[in-house]
Order: sequence, then C-alpha cells, then structure tokens
Amino acid sequence: MKRIEIAKLLGTAGPELIGTEILVQGWVRTKRGNKFVGFVALNDGSCLANLQVVFDFSVHPESILHKVHSGAAIAVRGKLTASEGGGQQVELQANQLEVIGEANPDEYPIQPKKHSLEFLREHAHLRFRTNTFSAINRIRHHLIFAIHQFFNEQGFYNIHTPIITGSDAEGAGEMFRVSTLSPDNPPRREDGSIDYSKDFFGKETNLTVSGQLEAELAALALGKVYTFGPTFRAENSNTTRHLAEFWMIEPEVAFFDIHDDMDLAENMLKYVIRYVLDKAPEDLQFLSNRLQEEEKNKPEKDRAPMELVEKLKFVAENTFVRTTYTEAIEILKNSKPNKKKQFQFPVEAWGADLQSEHERYLVEKHFQKPVILTDYPKEIKAFYMKQNDDGKTVRAMDILFPGIGEIVGGSQREEVYEKLHQRMIEMHIPSEEMSWYLDTRKFGSVPHAGFGLGFERLMLFVTGMGNIRDVIPFPRTPKNAEF
Ligand code: 4AD
Ligand code: MG
Repeated sequence: MKRIEIAKLLGTAGPELIGTEILVQGWVRTKRGNKFVGFVALNDGSCLANLQVVFDFSVHPESILHKVHSGAAIAVRGKLTASEGGGQQVELQANQLEVIGEANPDEYPIQPKKHSLEFLREHAHLRFRTNTFSAINRIRHHLIFAIHQFFNEQGFYNIHTPIITGSDAEGAGEMFRVSTLSPDNPPRREDGSIDYSKDFFGKETNLTVSGQLEAELAALALGKVYTFGPTFRAENSNTTRHLAEFWMIEPEVAFFDIHDDMDLAENMLKYVIRYVLDKAPEDLQFLSNRLQEEEKNKPEKDRAPMELVEKLKFVAENTFVRTTYTEAIEILKNSKPNKKKQFQFPVEAWGADLQSEHERYLVEKHFQKPVILTDYPKEIKAFYMKQNDDGKTVRAMDILFPGIGEIVGGSQREEVYEKLHQRMIEMHIPSEEMSWYLDTRKFGSVPHAGFGLGFERLMLFVTGMGNIRDVIPFPRTPKNAEF
C-alpha cells in the first residue's frame, strides 16, 4: 500500500478518501487515552497539523501502544473516517501498527511541552521535530522558491558565483581563509612570511563575502542576472542579526540606475512576502500566535505595534519611504532619543555610519514604514559604488525594515574606468589582482546596478523570530559550528 501524506489527508483530498483503507507514516508527537481508546497525534512534516490516529482497545490490546512514545517513527494502516471531534475533518481508525524507529522517552529531549529557544539551539539536530522549527523551515523553502520564481518571471538568469575566491568583494577584510597548507609547518619565503604560492591555488584564497563582482561580469553580457549563494563573514559580531555563514540574493542589471535598482528591490520584497502569505498561512498563523504569547510577557510599551500577518500585509501593500542619508542624519540629530542621550552611539556629525539603533529609530518610530536610504558618504561604503558629482557621496541604497534594520544593501556601480581605478587606489584595493573586474569598465562598460538581500534577515522579518540563529537550520556564529 502506498503511503499518503498528512497534508493531503487534512487538505481537500481528505473527505474524498473517507471510508477507504490508507497507510500513513510519521513521527509521534503525543499519545493520550484511557482504558478503552488510545489517541496518537502523528506528524510527517508535510504540514503543521497532526493527524489523529485512534486505537480502539476493544479491537487491539492496550499493549499495542507500548513502544509508541513522543519522537518514535511509526507506520499505521487503517480506515479514514470523518472526525467526531471539532478540530479536523478526518481521523484514522488504526488497524495495523508498525513501530519503525523507537524513541526512548527517558532519553528523547524533545518532550511534548514548550521548550525554550536556547534549549532547542543546543539540540538543533532535533529541533526540526517541533512545530516552531518545522514551520520556520517550511516558510524558508517557500521564500527561496518565491525568490527564484520572481527573478525567473522577470527574465533574469541565475548565475552560480564562486564560493572560493582570491578577492575581497567588500574590501572589509573579514574573510575565512581557504588553504591546504600545514598550519604547523607552512612553507615560508626568505623573509619568514608564509609562501602561499605553494598553496592549493597558488595564491591566497578565502570564502567569498559576496558574489557581486562576478555577478557584474555576467550582467555585462547577459543583461539581468542574480546569484543566490552562501556567503561568509569572519566578523566577530555576536548579535541576533549576524551569522558567519549566511545566504545572499544578489541581482545585477545592466543599464539600471539606482532608481531602477530600488524599484526592483521593493517589488521583489513585496512579491515574496505576498507569496508566503498565500502559500503558508497556517505556518504563519502558528508563528504569529506564538509571538503574541511571548508579547504578553513584555511591558506594553515594548510590544510590537502589529501582529505578524498584519505586519506582512502592511509591508506588501505600502510604498517604502525613499530619502537620503543626509536627510536621515538631520532627523536623527533632532530626535528625542538623541537629545536625551538614549542612543548608545550619539548622532553628532554628517559622515558617521548608521548603527542598527539609528536604523530602527527611523523605521519604527519616525517613518513607521520600510525606508530606503540613498546617497551615503563615500567613506563608509564600498569602492565599487557610483560616485555622485558632489564628490562626497555615492549612489548607495540601503533598505531598512522594522525590527531588523538593514535588510538590503546595494548601489549603482561606478562604470567609469578612471574613477573606479582611482577609488581602488585610495581604498587600498589591489587593482592589479582585480584587473578582470576593471576589464569590464574597459570593454563596453555601461551603467549598471544591483543589491544584496540577506536571506536570513528576510527570514527574521517574515517569521517574526527574534534571533537569526533560529531561522537558518544550522547556524554558524563565533565559537559555534556544532552539527
Ligand atoms: O550590505 P552588504 O555587505 O552588501 C554586499 O555584500 C553587496 N556586495 C551586495 C550587493 O550589492 N550585491 O550585505 C548585503 C546584505 C545586508 O544588507 C544584510 O541583509 C546581509 O547581507 N548581511 C548579513 N546577514 C547575516 N549575517 C551577516 N553577518 C550579514 N552581513 C550582511
Ligand atoms: Mg551593508
């Protein structure tokens, strides 16, 4: 007999199968009952809800459920019947049970009770078994799929950019080295420094911080491309918004200026949010309820102004605010928390980098909407950004989201060879090693633009979770590469 997934039984196919003999397989969430009847809540991951499986002890001995505990894998054959209880339309009257994999109740850590997120992080290999993490990971899938679908519909080509690279795309020097040299006894040059010409690639290599530079090469031939890959940053930031290994979506488009770039980013974000609202309403509602329970423990003034689904709809339906860095600095300088010295980093002068507390003030308190900030000081942005005529700012655009801060970082790119080369020299970017990048500005250079969306930041926003370690299956953070 072929197995039927629980999502089908609890969906539209369920009522049609009432009265038929079926097979289900899954993991036991809970077991309860009395002398006459046993109830097992079975979950197979295909959806949030469990199927109720009923064991009639007048047909089977009570001992049939002897090895059936939370976490055990079982297969049940039986007759699908209309459910008498209120919850679901169907349930399964068990005829045959097979325990496929036992789970010793004295050892299985995931008990049918509320576990803290910290506890579950320490048991990340088993946390998929909880409602919260199965919902998060189903939503993660839908978002990934929506992103590919959006770009495909818009005529973009997906490009795989390299993971091992010899260049530092962001010029920030926060890279993980890739080497096969012996750490104890590496080959050395005469001056004692390590001789990387003897290393696997014959040069120093690292894990990439961004696929942008290579995406630019492709965009200047294929027109519209995007890369969606893992990126790595060795910054020692132990925050709820930073991972050492995260996934980034980076479109790059020839003949685009910064305004086209902002339109693309805003449209993409709204599209993928609408997609999950449509595809995962139950998982979103579950996370929303969970969040509202948590909010009850907070003082009223710290509570989120909107419930999760309402917040997602709000962002999908409202136009993002667009303003400049200079304007934002004015707002922040004159803001209450700045005057009352409540910011950890007081805003004093034009030119300072915005901290996440400033970004969140702008979005959550001042504009109360997603905000796109443009035209940042060139000193705080990467070398490749298009320089404005004022000589001070670059055509950067960052998108700031409520509860998150920066979710997208992008820009129009400098397409003029001399200006780009000059900026690389000023910022100590080794231009000889990156002649391949400069070549695009020599041969058929055109204005172009792109951005990077941090996938896990988007996940934080969509799921309403508070810690980035909970929205990626296996987080990599300082001092943590377990599982
Ligand atoms: O602003 P960033 O550094 O931009 C770039 O890397 C550009 N090359 C992108 C481009 O124009 N193609 O990073 C882009 C986004 C950030 O806005 C943030 O959402 C996310 O990547 N991000 C991180 N997410 C999780 N953990 C980290 N350590 C992150 N660093 C950046
Ligand atoms: Mg950035």
